[in-house]
Amino acid sequence: MALTGIFLISFLVVHVGINACIWANDGGEMFNKAAHFMGSMIVIRIIEVGLFVGFFIHIIQGLVLEVQNRGKRGIAYAVSYGNRGSTWYSRSMGLLGTILLIFLIIHWKHFWIPSRFTGVEETVIDGKPVHDLYVLMKDTFANLWVVVLYVVACISLAYHLLHGFLSAFRTLGLSNHRYIHLVRGLGVGFSIIVPLAFAMMPVSMYLGWVS
Ligand code: HEM
Repeated sequence: MALTGIFLISFLVVHVGINACIWANDGGEMFNKAAHFMGSMIVIRIIEVGLFVGFFIHIIQGLVLEVQNRGKRGIAYAVSYGNRGSTWYSRSMGLLGTILLIFLIIHWKHFWIPSRFTGVEETVIDGKPVHDLYVLMKDTFANLWVVVLYVVACISLAYHLLHGFLSAFRTLGLSNHRYIHLVRGLGVGFSIIVPLAFAMMPVSMYLGWVS
């Protein structure tokens, strides 16, 4: 889970970086260019297959782990330590992951399926026709319920990462006493900044902060 988790974390860095181009406020030109550049590279297309395999393995491993954890203890603890023993989100990784999976299925239907299969409106950049994913984003986030769904998913992502980031580095033995503060600091920073940036995308579009 640690390896697939870190792989998915690295995907989030690229994804949030490309999407952040919407804030260039240039009618989506920079964002459409960046998305087109990524989509047209063969290496990226190969990595995309790896990404879906990564998601699949991570989800299956998560399910197996959840079932194993529940099965290990036949009798419940006599005293529950609640939040003194562990955080609520570390005990809810399965639930948070399930919310993210539901979000991902809806998210793929919004963007990935039109982009790869059913078609997206086109715009011309540097004389070449490219997918107008910016207009697709604007249309998608014109609906308040979709914006709320994305914000809820980003909050789930933040808590999922808050536990997952540190946990992954612990599993790999990289958060020993020398590095624990650094890894913890990086984990908390990443888990707040990346989901917040993602959440601000639908919000900015809905409120007309980008044009
Ligand atoms: C909340 C703001 C988000 C926006 C506006 C957004 C936008 C997009 C867009 C436009 C695409 C299509 C790219 C293309 O086909 O060229 C896409 C694909 C994708 N997104 Fe997002 N995304 C967001 C958040 C997320 C999050 C939080 C995750 C993961 C937890 C995620 C995972 C994916 C995946 C796996 C794909 C398909 C992979 C690919 O195209 O290579 N997205 N997203």
